[in-house]
Amino acid sequence: MAGTKTLTMIKPDAVQNGHIGAILNDIAEAGFRISAMKLTQLSKADAEAFYEVHSERPFFGELVEFMTSGPIVAAILEKENAVESFRMLIGSTNPAEAAEGTIRAKYATSIGENAVHGSDSDENAQIEGDFHFAVREQF
Ligand code: CMP
Repeated sequence: MAGTKTLTMIKPDAVQNGHIGAILNDIAEAGFRISAMKLTQLSKADAEAFYEVHSERPFFGELVEFMTSGPIVAAILEKENAVESFRMLIGSTNPAEAAEGTIRAKYATSIGENAVHGSDSDENAQIEGDFHFAVREQF
């Protein structure tokens, strides 16, 4: 069965701290299939567009600055119930509240610099996947 999809970004903190390999290993061991993947860096306009839903939040400027500060790994992941399953794997937004063994508990440093992104719905997974990848880059 093909399952559903979610979009992840390994964020600049985790890339800078050398955690790409470990995080991809956790993702593979959890049974996700990689449908698309690349190393890239967001421009200010890219980050403002991606996080448009948060544009009125007090942390928006900080979020855009952080997400443009260095390279990220963007990937589309596929599994049965991918959005919920991936959110369980990564843990709470705030790493201080993330369950032991989750990616954020292991690799995140703060609520802002929280190592990974995961889509919050099937609808947003589709929008976010198409934001990062052309159709010919999705397998
Ligand atoms: P993410 O799941 O990628 O989507 C929105 C991001 O905003 C979230 O991860 C956090 O990195 C960031 N964020 C959420 N709350 C805060 C906060 N209180 N302060 C700074 N950044 C935040």
